[in-house]
Amino acid sequence: MCGIIAAASTRNVGKLLVQGLHKMEYRGYDSAGIALHQNESIAHLRALGKVQLLENKMIAEKPKSKLGIAHTRWATHGEPSEINAHPHKSKDSVYIVHNGIIENYVDLRESLIGYGYEFSSQTDSELIAHLLDLHMNEGNSMLDAMYLAKEKLEGAYAIAAIDIKDNTNLVVARNKSPLLIGLGTDEMFAASDPLAIAQMTNDFIFLEDGDVAEISANSYKIFDSSKKEVTREVTHIDISNQATSKGDYRHFMEKEIYEQPEAVSNTIDGRIGGEDVLDNIFGLGSSDLFAKVKRIQIVACGTSLHAGRVAANWFSSIAELPCQIDYASEYRYRNPHVDDDSLIITISQSGETADTLAALSYAKEKNYLASLAICNVPTSSLARESDFVLFTNAGPEIGVASTKAFTTQLAALMLLALSLAKSKDLNPKLRGRITNALRLLPEIISESLLQKEQIVAIAPSIANKDNALFLGRGIFYPIAKEGALKLKEISYIHAEAYPAGELKHGPLALIDENMPVIALAPESEIAEKLISNLEEVKARGGTLYVFADPSVKMDVKAGELVHMPKCDFFLTPIVYNIPLQILSYEVALLRGTDIDQPRNLAKSVTVE
Ligand code: AGP
Repeated sequence: MCGIIAAASTRNVGKLLVQGLHKMEYRGYDSAGIALHQNESIAHLRALGKVQLLENKMIAEKPKSKLGIAHTRWATHGEPSEINAHPHKSKDSVYIVHNGIIENYVDLRESLIGYGYEFSSQTDSELIAHLLDLHMNEGNSMLDAMYLAKEKLEGAYAIAAIDIKDNTNLVVARNKSPLLIGLGTDEMFAASDPLAIAQMTNDFIFLEDGDVAEISANSYKIFDSSKKEVTREVTHIDISNQATSKGDYRHFMEKEIYEQPEAVSNTIDGRIGGEDVLDNIFGLGSSDLFAKVKRIQIVACGTSLHAGRVAANWFSSIAELPCQIDYASEYRYRNPHVDDDSLIITISQSGETADTLAALSYAKEKNYLASLAICNVPTSSLARESDFVLFTNAGPEIGVASTKAFTTQLAALMLLALSLAKSKDLNPKLRGRITNALRLLPEIISESLLQKEQIVAIAPSIANKDNALFLGRGIFYPIAKEGALKLKEISYIHAEAYPAGELKHGPLALIDENMPVIALAPESEIAEKLISNLEEVKARGGTLYVFADPSVKMDVKAGELVHMPKCDFFLTPIVYNIPLQILSYEVALLRGTDIDQPRNLAKSVTVE
């Protein structure tokens, strides 16, 4: 999704800003742009498409500047085009970049047209430049103009702005869209993502909603929503270059798939001991609180929601708790009834997903016992706004398609199921069994990665199809859904998932030689029923690719049977997910898609 970077320095900032834009490419975008203060004028360059095209323009024009703002845009209002790319300007004097959505943009646009402003783009963002210009023409400083503009703006925004009359300061503002200040030596930065400026500094200040800041090369001042100057905590984060570079891998997604054994170790390490999960790993007082929980509500989006669906089954089987699960984007609109002693759980890799944050903020008004987040980014809004948190410790996930984040979310959610059961003194033997199985999980994931060769051989017969069906039963149905999401996301093949027993109620009509069927057949009490469902597919000419327990000896004819390593039943969903990730990756590779930045998608979806 959109990315902001801004810099005030004693050295030239053009290169630094473009470098920062490159670092944010993983978030997904369709155009990029930059505005650089050059004392008498502002160099304004924009390009549709990759940041590299903007960089080519920079190389050609060589603008020199010590103050600038830059942006990658993910279109919401107005098509992807150079004219809609940020920065937007007002009368060649005020330049802004904006992330988020201005909900009342139609009214504001009309009123600004009434003041004589002309709009050159179709965006909701351009009006911010005009609004600032309007208030500065009334004699206000940029800082004061930002406060006056904020009074009118409805919606989510992170804004950075510069003014032709000031070659020293830039002004930023945050409301429900991430924004931070980076503290350098003789230079300061602002960005929507710490990765954008991690090469320049490790010291960050995460702004809060309502904050406005004025930044120059050697100083910064932060003001809260009531315009009172405030001090915000400086957070030191080391983001190693290794974590944000592909190394020898072809794509970040590939790297992140093969990093999973280590990532899962990092999720589990220091959180289990002996035959059980350790106390209070979700935060001080969490174990006591868990003893009171009678119901669970999960809200999340996309892959994180699939992790929640698996966990709902664990909460029921291991902690004997009923669990309701909702798409975060839908939760608020179904008028949810909240029973006493309910715990709300949010799951999010980025911790910045607007739908999930909005669901949490809605839930806080209800009578939940507490809110708990499973999140990968310690500095995220979700982490800060939840009562309890467990970080998945997966390291930065750059590929838009979530892989290691999902696997580690599942490991973290299993820790939660065990913690809830422990606090209620339930199923001690089962807890011991699963705890021991968790220790072996990284090794079993490594084993499942060895199936790559067999999967590479399957990939061509899926890469040449337009559709695919994924089947799983019970706790494997969400894994089938995740497999289908991964395939459509990066290969653009239409894929759907069904619980295998549902096939005969409709989708069986789709089966022919052009509909590959990918099925998950672990050892379970319904394994035989699943095999019967797969026979129904075979009988109708469908090609089956079955990931199965070694005990499954089915003749798949034209397709392929891949035997999976054995592990404890409760952890098998985690292991069976791995070959589906590899399959999607290999299929996308054959189709030549932009695997790390699939079309139309964004890594961190910061708009509702
Ligand atoms: C996963 O492959 C997707 N890119 C997407 O579904 C993602 O999981 C979803 O947008 C939620 O993101 P979050 O975990 O950062 O909240």
